Amino acid sequence: MNDFGPGSHGTSAPEMPPMFRPPMPSTQVSTQVSSQAPTEAPTQPSTHASRPPTDLAARVVEAAPAETVPLPRRHEPPAETVLGPTGRPWPDLPEPRPIGIHGNARVIAMCNQKGGVGKTTTTINLGASLAEYGRKVLLVDFDPQGSLSVGLGMNPHDMTMSVYNLLMQRDVAVEDVIVPTDVPGMDLLPSNIDLSAAEVQLVHEVAREQTLARVLQGAINSYDFILIDCQPSLGLLTVNALTAADGVIVPLECEYFALRGVALLKTTIDKVKERLNPRLNIDGVLGTMYDGRTLHGREVMQRLVDAWGDAVFHTVIRRTVKFSDSTVAGEPITSYASDSAGAESYRTLAKEVLTRCLDG
Ligand SMILES: Nc1ncnc2c1ncn2[C@@H]1O[C@H](COP(=O)(O)OP(=O)(O)O)[C@@H](O)[C@H]1O
Ligand SMILES: [Mg+2]
Repeated sequence: MNDFGPGSHGTSAPEMPPMFRPPMPSTQVSTQVSSQAPTEAPTQPSTHASRPPTDLAARVVEAAPAETVPLPRRHEPPAETVLGPTGRPWPDLPEPRPIGIHGNARVIAMCNQKGGVGKTTTTINLGASLAEYGRKVLLVDFDPQGSLSVGLGMNPHDMTMSVYNLLMQRDVAVEDVIVPTDVPGMDLLPSNIDLSAAEVQLVHEVAREQTLARVLQGAINSYDFILIDCQPSLGLLTVNALTAADGVIVPLECEYFALRGVALLKTTIDKVKERLNPRLNIDGVLGTMYDGRTLHGREVMQRLVDAWGDAVFHTVIRRTVKFSDSTVAGEPITSYASDSAGAESYRTLAKEVLTRCLDG
């Protein structure tokens, strides 16, 4: 265990993204480090073992109490020893490169049959962050509650066309339904309660599970990412989203009961992959509403990593009221509170998604 403490202290300050930079008060530093150190064997070789005994700076940090020692800025061991909030070494996430040509969108479904886990929040803010990095993004509101549309400032009663029309009317094309958002480069396919009727009516359709995939075809070449905000169920709408998707992101609230039901979700994803959509990939599991100050939060995070391994994003989204505030304001946190830790986390997530999707 001792190997982790000094290693993390000594390396994290200049290397980590702002949201994970250890806070200066020493009590918090030690809390964070102990929270991040895995309880079992470390996943990386210890930095202590490889450090030469003559490394004076490192020895000073080890010997002196954390209260009195400023974080050293020179002679740091390599960056790979920095632990992220999931307890794993923090990866190198390159700055996304601008792209000149758009199209061949990667379709990603935000999926978890539990409500209130951050699907809609992640769709809006990951989308806005990808758009900030110059990607063209289309958000699909695929929840009859229409929270995504409302969260982007739309009035559910004012929609002339919605995803419902797109799914049910052959003469409606995707560009007839797309509306721009206030975020440059990000558009929306809005929904309202009408979509709940589609779930019933689609049952009688031929190739009912492929309906969304079919209607989205017209948008694939105009966007770099299409993010589908699923409803909190594993019904026909969600199966449609998984059938249309290349990847799925599972937002999970870092709370004990959030882990229940995840097995069922995994089974559903596996079945869709096997029977309807062989290219479907789990792009990542995202810990949301994380509170690293509580033992509970850290334990749940550890269980997430135990259960899902490297599928868990290194980025976690911490709990903050700013998300609810930005929903009320009808805009992403990246514009509502651009400098906030929440906005920064979603930008980091966007970098991680771009890295995982080999774009960037
Ligand atoms: N990281 C977070 N911290 C605090 N509140 C959050 C966070 N993410 C989402 N919320 C809030 O939690 C509620 C549910 O989030 P939402 O994204 O709508 O979940 P879902 O779409 O899975 O039902 C919303 O009020 C939202 O503002
Ligand atoms: Mg939602």
